[in-house]
Amino acid sequence: MNAVTTDALWMPFTANRDFKKAPRVIVGADGHHYTTSDGRRVYDTFSGLWTCGVGHCHPKIVEAVQQQVATLDYAISFQVGNDKSFALAERVIDMAPDGFSNVFFTNSGSESVDTALKIALAYHRAKGEGHRTRLIGREKGYHGVNFGGMSVGGIVPNRKVFSAALLPGVDHLRHTLDIGRNAFSRGLPEHGAELAEDLERLCVLHDGSNIAAVIVEPIAGSAGVLPPPVGYLERLREICDAHGILLIFDEVIAAFGRVGKAFGAERLGVTPDIITTAKGLTNGVVPMGAVLVQQKIHDAIMQGPDHMIELFHGYTYSGHPVAAAAGLATMDVYDEEGIFEQSLALEETFADLLHSFADHDKVIDVRNFGMMGAVELAPRAGAPGARGLEIHKQCFWNEDLVVRNGMDTLQFSPFLNSKVDEMEQSFEAIRRVVDAVD
Ligand SMILES: Cc1ncc(COP(=O)(O)O)c(C=O)c1O
Repeated sequence: MNAVTTDALWMPFTANRDFKKAPRVIVGADGHHYTTSDGRRVYDTFSGLWTCGVGHCHPKIVEAVQQQVATLDYAISFQVGNDKSFALAERVIDMAPDGFSNVFFTNSGSESVDTALKIALAYHRAKGEGHRTRLIGREKGYHGVNFGGMSVGGIVPNRKVFSAALLPGVDHLRHTLDIGRNAFSRGLPEHGAELAEDLERLCVLHDGSNIAAVIVEPIAGSAGVLPPPVGYLERLREICDAHGILLIFDEVIAAFGRVGKAFGAERLGVTPDIITTAKGLTNGVVPMGAVLVQQKIHDAIMQGPDHMIELFHGYTYSGHPVAAAAGLATMDVYDEEGIFEQSLALEETFADLLHSFADHDKVIDVRNFGMMGAVELAPRAGAPGARGLEIHKQCFWNEDLVVRNGMDTLQFSPFLNSKVDEMEQSFEAIRRVVDAVD
């Protein structure tokens, strides 16, 4: 292995001490493969981190970034704007479900979520309903790691250490994972729509008139791919409408073709009031996020004297020109290469490959929707997460594959333009590893 000194870097969401005993280091990428520091080509079953749906180092995106950085590297983003950010906002709104009119740019999914929560509060206040301050999330939800997203999030280890500092006035719906009734469902699980009634219960408890917004991932990703039960999102929408509550879909993973359409909302046929995005917005090439809002929300906040800032919120890098150029090129690739159609056409093959694990004695559930999938393994007695991490490591070292594990759940986010033979080979290799581990 080429010498890489790993001491100084504190890695995110990584078992740092374990990692540094045998570092897994990537030095290059091309299409559907990475190159490792020991010179191997490794197939990427996760398209980055749910990010790079069209493949790595796409020539069109690379060229757009190279050109942009040499033309306009950065421009002040407050009270002055750059051409690429305006153009990208138009493109994103063109793709969005009906009623969406405006985009606020951020630099990550976490920032998109916190921005969306702030917009929800600002909207109600602008309408004279400043008492609507409560936020509702859901158990097992992942909305990034900033304080807002962490507070409405429901992944216990992400919250545990910070428990006392989480936002007040937040409550949670129960999660929808029900292996007892829905194990090995293909696509949307049949059972669980009634869990949406939790929102009605919270409206009774807190009084619906005090609730600003409900945020859910339309398909929970990081918790191990939890598609919504049939009818669940529709019912959430109805309850929100009945109580004047904003519905936020966190589509940081689901947007931009991951579920075969531009947005999860479109695929699932339920329209929220706000959509948060990131990842696929730039194919992961330059960090960027976007919050899409319905016209009524934007218009309500555009109040006061014209010379006053309407929303006191923004980032130095909101709408960064290099990120926006990457975003524009990504949108071109989506259109010109029919990426969403390719994604839709691949999902049955992907589902077949995932569900081929259903007969494995170590597997307790398989879940999928669009090009999102999970194979949940039984944990080793007394060592939850150990089996999943060992499979990840063996895939990397022995099978030249990057396979993501969240504890003992193997998660999959194939390229939206995957080659079927490469997907098949990767699943054969994963099966060998799952067979071999304790
Ligand atoms: C649904 C969802 N929201 C928010 C985030 C946070 O995004 P980031 O890591 O870019 O801050 C993620 C990341 O995976 C996500 O899946």
